[in-house]
Amino acid sequence: MRTPIIAGNWKMYKTVGEAVDLIKGLLVGLGQVHGREVVVCPPFTALYAVRPLLIGTNLALGAQDLHYEPQGAFTGAIAPTMLTDVGCRYVIIGHSERRQYFGETDTSVNRKIRAALTVGLTPIVCVGEVKAERDRGEAELVVGRQVTAGLADLRPAEVARLVIAYEPVWAIGTGDTATPADAQAMHATIRALLSKQVGAATAATVRIQYGGSVKPENIDELMAQPDIDGALVGGASLKAESFLRIVSFQ
Ligand code: 13P
Repeated sequence: MRTPIIAGNWKMYKTVGEAVDLIKGLLVGLGQVHGREVVVCPPFTALYAVRPLLIGTNLALGAQDLHYEPQGAFTGAIAPTMLTDVGCRYVIIGHSERRQYFGETDTSVNRKIRAALTVGLTPIVCVGEVKAERDRGEAELVVGRQVTAGLADLRPAEVARLVIAYEPVWAIGTGDTATPADAQAMHATIRALLSKQVGAATAATVRIQYGGSVKPENIDELMAQPDIDGALVGGASLKAESFLRIVSFQ
């Protein structure tokens, strides 16, 4: 049985004050939410400030990226233990925006996953095809390559600790969600790939989130699919009301 996991990726939004306000708004409604994990991933600058608000609550903290080295001369980068130090339990790795604008590759994703696991962080590993790849009928090929290369040489016990987020790039921030059937098909493909890599028993435990224009209006139908175990939410996670509705999916 996989516990559903809904995460809010705040991207480059929210000052410290705004982040604190949003967390307070979320906590008001989260008391009634059970049987699912809920995570927020604010920008780095807000992590330390929001941490005290989350202690003893059912809202967990995550970051949006990390560096794979434990420390060193890497100007502008954040080390894995810097995240655990401020209370993070999750970290998003390989988001399509990191791949597109910051040179993230499957190789760096693989190193970051290992670095995160070493310090006890749960990686949320993002994969997904761009529009042209889907139009050419290559979506499964591209996502398959990202999964295989990103998770290369990880042991079954390590893969079991991952969350995978399937985010078709053409659906991010566009209002253009994948149909629940298309999303389900890709999730099943990813699970079949994992099964080949680490065995069916481990693959059956890995949670696979859908991401890309998830909203209050489509979350119930998405979550009704057998291989969709949660959501990675961008825009709709920036307001307490819409994120609370999403985490309260039926
Ligand atoms: P939107 O929900 O704004 O489409 O963003 C999805 C996303 O990129 C989450 O990581």
